[in-house]
Amino acid sequence: MTVPRHVAIIMDGNGRWAKNRGLPRVMGHRAGAKAVRRIVEEAARRGIRILTLFAFSSENWKRPKLEVTALMQLFARALDSQTPDLKKNGISLRVIGDTSGFPEALQKKIRQAEAETADGARMRLNVAAGYGGRWDIARAAQKLAQKAREGALAPEDINEELLGRELAEPSDVDLLIRTGGERRVSNFLIWQASYSELWFSDILWPDFTGEDLDAALKYFKGRERRFGMISEQLQTPL
Ligand code: IPE
Ligand code: IPE
Ligand code: MG
Repeated sequence: MTVPRHVAIIMDGNGRWAKNRGLPRVMGHRAGAKAVRRIVEEAARRGIRILTLFAFSSENWKRPKLEVTALMQLFARALDSQTPDLKKNGISLRVIGDTSGFPEALQKKIRQAEAETADGARMRLNVAAGYGGRWDIARAAQKLAQKAREGALAPEDINEELLGRELAEPSDVDLLIRTGGERRVSNFLIWQASYSELWFSDILWPDFTGEDLDAALKYFKGRERRFGMISEQLQTPL
């Protein structure tokens, strides 16, 4: 596979980008939203089929209330301004995560944007908001338990495939990118990224460009993905 089918990005470094310029953190988030628009276009142009962006983690609720509120407002504004372009460009939007704590008006905007772009077949854009990998797995387990209680499923039939199907985004991540210099997963797609190639960049998210994406894609191209096997098995598949 030359171009990864599913790319996931931990968009980190907005706060530091702003701080470096003597600006309030929220200005960094605003610049980050511009980078989202840019990278969504660049990803679609490169033939990536699924792009999952980490916008707000389940742990980010612990941030100062003012920052959380500003992020919600920015999200609403981004939906207003970017949805028409997504539609035009054949990109379907899905918001994955527990958004039940979001303002009602924002939840409604999310549903509208998802419905308006649902036909987009060129690329699927998942925005992970209120998302946590552990939340995702726990919720999948809950769904299976519900089915078991209803008698639609025997507990002993539960396996990785069935659980994986209940996740907010069932597709495995091929390439996981984190900007902003930290080398950790921060509870992102912990199940789906089991066999991802990992690319860490020191570039702060607002500065991330198509060229930086290309550097990650080039790295991906050079990887041998063995999935536990040995090289020789990949050359002559069993
Ligand atoms: C990532 O940037 C965006 C969100 C988590 C919402 P940060 O806000 O974490 O930026 P840094 O890590 O403080 O620079
Ligand atoms: C991860 O970034 C979450 C998002 C990018 C949305 P954080 O900045 O919240 O991660 P930690 O706390 O440094 O691990
Ligand atoms: Mg951060």
